Amino acid sequence: MDTKTKNIVVFFGSPHKDSYTAKLLNLFIKKKLDNSNYKINIIYAYNENIHACIDCKFCRDYDFCIFKDLDNINNLLIESDFIIIASPIYNASFPSPLKSILDRFQIYYYYFQKHRKSIFEKPKNLLLLLTQGSKNINYNPSIKSLIKPICNILNIKSFKMINVTNTDNK
Ligand SMILES: Cc1cc2nc3c(=O)[nH]c(=O)nc-3n(C[C@H](O)[C@H](O)[C@H](O)COP(=O)(O)O)c2cc1C
Repeated sequence: MDTKTKNIVVFFGSPHKDSYTAKLLNLFIKKKLDNSNYKINIIYAYNENIHACIDCKFCRDYDFCIFKDLDNINNLLIESDFIIIASPIYNASFPSPLKSILDRFQIYYYYFQKHRKSIFEKPKNLLLLLTQGSKNINYNPSIKSLIKPICNILNIKSFKMINVTNTDNK
């Protein structure tokens, strides 16, 4: 195994830091990433107050956004090898603070179109760690189509999903 440090960016979508999603994430980190070869940066979507994309179209002409609040995340993403999205499912999608972050990745889409290459030269792996209240509803197909454009934009080469169901019933 490659001994070079791998950079992991976690997008944490729950408003609760000690909830089902947090437990799932912590378990994953403990069982799978518990060694020093990983540097983990956790972005708590509810703490970031990232402005929603307003479709001003500025990024179609320029390589930056009129809002500066994504710059730190941008730098982390450029260096990242793995991305984890750890989130509850809200209305068959992601909670809005997390969705705002993902929508703002549209700037990278325009960058890609203009320059014919992604700024994310490092290919990345994506893991989705999801929790949902319901027991039997299968959100996997809708989450997959939700996440597909993001995978293209961020140069994500492999994608896996773990979904814990039935949290409404503890
Ligand atoms: C606004 C809102 C919308 C939700 N929508 C869904 C849903 O569409 N499907 C579902 O199975 N659970 C839904 N849930 C339940 C959460 O996905 C579930 O409670 C989750 O495990 C919460 O994770 P957390 O405790 O880590 O925040 C919703 C919860 C909230 C608050």
